[in-house]
Amino acid sequence: FYEVAVAETTAEIFPGVQTKVFTYNGNFPAATIVARRGREVSVTHTNSLADPTVAHLHGAHVAASSDGYPMDVVNPGGRREYRYPNTQLGGSFWYHAHAHHTEAEQVYRGLAGCYLLKDPQEAALGLPDGEYDVSLMVRDAHFDDAGQLVYVNGDFNARTTLLVNGRPQPYFQVAARKYRLRFVNCSNERAFRLKLADGSAMTLIGSDGGLLPAPVTAPSFDLWPGERVEVVVDFSRYAVGTQVVLGNDLGEVDSTRSVMRFDVVRTATDTSLVPAALRPLPDLGTPTATRDIQLKLDLSTGAFQFDGKVFDSTRVDQHIKLGTTEIWRITNADTAPAIPHNLHLHLVQFQVLDRAGAPVGGHETGLKDTVTVPPGATVRIKVRFDGYEGRYVYHCHMLDHSATGMMGQMEIT
Ligand code: C2O
Ligand code: CU
Ligand code: CU
Repeated sequence: FYEVAVAETTAEIFPGVQTKVFTYNGNFPAATIVARRGREVSVTHTNSLADPTVAHLHGAHVAASSDGYPMDVVNPGGRREYRYPNTQLGGSFWYHAHAHHTEAEQVYRGLAGCYLLKDPQEAALGLPDGEYDVSLMVRDAHFDDAGQLVYVNGDFNARTTLLVNGRPQPYFQVAARKYRLRFVNCSNERAFRLKLADGSAMTLIGSDGGLLPAPVTAPSFDLWPGERVEVVVDFSRYAVGTQVVLGNDLGEVDSTRSVMRFDVVRTATDTSLVPAALRPLPDLGTPTATRDIQLKLDLSTGAFQFDGKVFDSTRVDQHIKLGTTEIWRITNADTAPAIPHNLHLHLVQFQVLDRAGAPVGGHETGLKDTVTVPPGATVRIKVRFDGYEGRYVYHCHMLDHSATGMMGQMEIT
């Protein structure tokens, strides 16, 4: 049982400066919730903000009444309970604010935290665990000269301070051994291409929905808003005393090219390993329907839309039959100006089939709930709707976009 109280508080993001933030239980970012597969978690959520809010557990397979539907808000002074059954496969999920129109600002001001669903079946794999299993929430932000957070919808280019777990470009002291690092991109719009500055390879082992079928070795990986990637980094290749910078190849200015630093401070024995086979992809069934979804900015109104419409909670955009598998063909029509989008579906974990017909690689070989769709691209996903009936949303996880309307509603019956 957890109690989660939302309030406006302060955090010491810069030494000696109190920055006004929104928090769950006073923590910026919120504390990590560790759950165990097969054991239900109940969260009681109270709201002391001046505005409504609602908590959504991103990546989770939950009943509609606990999903954090954008209109199902907790009003100021209110309280409600969410139940997370944790019956799905283990993975790195995250919880965040989701009230329609204010989700972007509330997440930006701090309403986000990790939720690790640990799967007892994973223990036999021998991956780094305990203090060697670390979550890192990565984001950007814009601060004024007094160190206060400034939020302006869509003001992406001004957000040139990078925060990891709420601190600007921190260092993390590590032992010379393997670590499992779980990265969450909780930025409103910024994408990262994370790589170790010395170019050493990293071993990708997980994506949004948990472990990949097999590890993938890569010099860098992309992380778009809402996505998670789990990586094993072996710091035993460095001598004690080495400082290893984690860089961002998509950074457009100096301050966004470096994300954090790992300082190797001691030796350690290491019995962890990364097996050649991790977790097979579950069988998502045979598709019986195909849907086309289009993402586009309406230049005349400035609203981001799906299929030419802004979100309307009274309209059902996709009628879906419970227990069926579908293919969604998602096209980003924003080529002028070229704006990337990334589609997130509530309730499900899906498989990315292809981009413009070409097979996908890296972390997209695992289960996903958020997929990046570059300008002009078409991506196909295979998704099974199982377990729960009801209304759930899908939206662009650039929250500045969803806040203006790039969100749709599916009804599963
Ligand atoms: Cu992480 Cu509907 O979102
Ligand atoms: Cu979600
Ligand atoms: Cu978008």
